[in-house]
Amino acid sequence: MTDATTPTAAPREWRLASRPTGWPTPENFELAESDVPALGDGQIRVRNEVLSVDPYMRGRMSAAKSYAAPYEVGAAMTGGAVGVVEESRADGVAVGDHVLHGLGWREVAVLDAKDARVVDTDAAPASSYLGVLGMTGLTAYAGLKRIAEVKEGDVVFVSGAAGAVGGAVGQIAKALGAGKVIGSAGSPEKVRHLTEDLGFDAAFSYRDRKVSEALRELAPDGIDVYFDNVGGEHLEAAIGSLRLGGRIAVCGMISVYNDTEPAPGPRNLARLIQTRGRIEGFLVGDHYDLAGEYAAQAATWLADGSLSLRETAVDGFENAVDAFLGVMRGDNTGKMVVRL
Ligand SMILES: NC(=O)c1ccc[n+]([C@@H]2O[C@H](COP(=O)([O-])OP(=O)(O)OC[C@H]3O[C@@H](n4cnc5c(N)ncnc54)[C@H](OP(=O)(O)O)[C@@H]3O)[C@@H](O)[C@H]2O)c1
Repeated sequence: MTDATTPTAAPREWRLASRPTGWPTPENFELAESDVPALGDGQIRVRNEVLSVDPYMRGRMSAAKSYAAPYEVGAAMTGGAVGVVEESRADGVAVGDHVLHGLGWREVAVLDAKDARVVDTDAAPASSYLGVLGMTGLTAYAGLKRIAEVKEGDVVFVSGAAGAVGGAVGQIAKALGAGKVIGSAGSPEKVRHLTEDLGFDAAFSYRDRKVSEALRELAPDGIDVYFDNVGGEHLEAAIGSLRLGGRIAVCGMISVYNDTEPAPGPRNLARLIQTRGRIEGFLVGDHYDLAGEYAAQAATWLADGSLSLRETAVDGFENAVDAFLGVMRGDNTGKMVVRL
């Protein structure tokens, strides 16, 4: 006998079929049936409802040693997901609860309940726990507070500004008192979104003009903070515009993730001497102690409208790879998620 919660088709998972050289292609992925084990003590079975696709996953497709272990060729990939608990052998997690966990890229996940967090999908949509109320929101907050040490009146520049982290950076910087927030993104529509919907003071498309020129025009007296999501030309231009005591938080460098040769570094690092500037990389994983503080702040900002929940959703598990490749191409505005 079956009912709505007991689908007959075997659940599926996305596996890494081969490691890409340069840009990933659909051939690097394989859709396969999952082997769903019976639950052990303390475990839950979750039917995923929304999956996260993120730029860091490109790094995990390579064998190179990094902060996150490489995906194994032939094995299911992992990533953030929110789903509904279908069966539980764990105290504190009930059938019907929604949980946030790390076994994305599959329709059904079996995991230890201690590796999942129950989330309130009445308070906010499930997908927001992957974005503005989740990892990407915390990345923006930690980078601004701890690394860039944003201060009242600062001029803040952020690249990848129409993406999940970047959009949150611009809004949170304003909420923390930044005097002026400037964003760069890859299309005129995204630029309009930044100034019209997200409250950026100024924005430009890096595809239409040189970043250094745009910064000279939009921040004639320079910038105090650069939140880097892109690297390359953006980073060099930001160093060139840094003011005395300026801070650069290096969050990501998506412009080089598909390079097959290391890209040359910024040619103007000597400017850090003149400006006593600081450049520092960070990983959100080191800053989860801020999660409670951020959740409380974010709830206030969401309520008063200073932070918004914009996302791009791709429907269908079979389209997860296209959604992931879309993030690398810039198809998304706000957090890219896959709805199952
Ligand atoms: N350090 C950490 O702990 C941490 C945590 C999360 C994310 N990150 C990093 O933060 C950055 C943003 O991540 P996200 O999840 O918020 O992704 P996202 O910004 O939502 O999506 C990626 C965006 O990058 C832009 N992009 C792609 N190629 C580009 C290029 N060559 N030059 C400039 N922009 C390009 C695209 O937008 P356009 O249309 O504007 O090109 C695309 O939408 C990534 O570098 C990621 O690796 C770091």
